[in-house]
Amino acid sequence: MQRFTIPRDVYFGENAIEHLKSVNGSKAMLVIGSERLIQDGTVPRIQALLGEANIETSIFSGVENDPSVATVMSGAQAMREFNPDLVVGIGGGSPIDAAKAMWIFYEYPEFTFEEAAKPFNLPELRKKARFIAIPTTSGTGTEVTSFSVITNHETGVKYPIADYNITPDLAIVDTGLVQSMTPSLVANTGMDALTHAFEAYVSKVRNPITDSLAMKSIEMTVESLVQSYKGEDQARKDMHIAQCLAGMSFSNAILGIVHSMAHKTGKIFDIPHGCANAIYLSYAVQFNAKAAGAEYADIARRLGLAGATTDELVASLVQLVKDFRTAMNMPHTLKEFGIAEDLFKSSLDEISKNAVGDPCTGTNPRDISVEEMKQLFEAAYYGTDVTF
Ligand SMILES: NC(=O)c1ccc[n+]([C@@H]2O[C@H](COP(=O)([O-])OP(=O)(O)OC[C@H]3O[C@@H](n4cnc5c(N)ncnc54)[C@H](O)[C@@H]3O)[C@@H](O)[C@H]2O)c1
Ligand SMILES: [Fe+2]
Repeated sequence: MQRFTIPRDVYFGENAIEHLKSVNGSKAMLVIGSERLIQDGTVPRIQALLGEANIETSIFSGVENDPSVATVMSGAQAMREFNPDLVVGIGGGSPIDAAKAMWIFYEYPEFTFEEAAKPFNLPELRKKARFIAIPTTSGTGTEVTSFSVITNHETGVKYPIADYNITPDLAIVDTGLVQSMTPSLVANTGMDALTHAFEAYVSKVRNPITDSLAMKSIEMTVESLVQSYKGEDQARKDMHIAQCLAGMSFSNAILGIVHSMAHKTGKIFDIPHGCANAIYLSYAVQFNAKAAGAEYADIARRLGLAGATTDELVASLVQLVKDFRTAMNMPHTLKEFGIAEDLFKSSLDEISKNAVGDPCTGTNPRDISVEEMKQLFEAAYYGTDVTF
């Protein structure tokens, strides 16, 4: 038996946010990052729409990028004081993920972060509130996923909390909210989405439902991402949908070593999540091809890439990832990103061990040892092909 879980409702497209007028509830805690969303009118508009539904609102703002355990706990405390029956995460992956984690500790104040970080270990939620997610970046898919990524700022390690309890009840994927993204944010978040779809499509627990969502997402991303980066309006809208499809897919097929590597280096090397994925993806495809060559070849064929054999098709797919990085002015290696060689070398043992231990490694198509992980990081640092 297999399971496939997504939100009960996904409202998407132009003005999807208008649906908020029809939501049931009495008190909503809005969780946001910077005040940008207040200044540009998005939050006031959301408050007005919820007001039409007779819902009182309170705002928890200031969630930092890559949110910390401390922020999560202070948000949960604010929720206990306001007592909402709706939690609304608005913004990029950071505030939405923080809101998901706050929701856990709002409902279960005695639960510990260590317990929550164990995969599929959460108590039953929705005793106090339901969850609405409204993304303003096009990448994480968190509005439809069972994940929340929280960072321990003392150790610099990211912990993915994974449990279908935190899959939102309602996702609002409004294509009008992403036009303000900068080109580099489009590039980083778009490559995060592409990585989600790639990793889901080759995961050990993939299934026909997750495959179809991943493949459609990849097709749409390949068609739209660079155009969106260049500021093309329709492509920007299409990417917002494509990343949501990738989210539905990976939430159920889980991920692989690209995310393990990104989770364990994002904070230490100070790389945005999507940029880290963009770098690691091509090297991980080369490593994984020994176990998932047929699946990568499927993707390459669907995209009409050149190649008669599996090896040639995989090579074309790797080249496609490199071409994306070039087209969007992204670094091809950790070195090019600007990580000092000293820092890389002194961190290598620790990040390799941590990445192998990340929950996303469990569903990677090819098993990996700490020694191989080290070699993979070295390939991604110096830009060498992975042949082992
Ligand atoms: N939960 C999941 O399923 C999942 C999946 C992948 C990644 N993540 C996590 O999500 C986080 C990254 O999220 P992200 O990539 O969305 O970035 P983010 O939320 O960290 O935001 C990055 C920056 O973009 C700005 N921003 C957001 N929307 C904007 C807009 N419309 N216009 C202009 N600026 C805008 C923010 O203010 C912020 O400064 C990481 O912590 C990552 O580990 C979670
Ligand atoms: Fe991601």
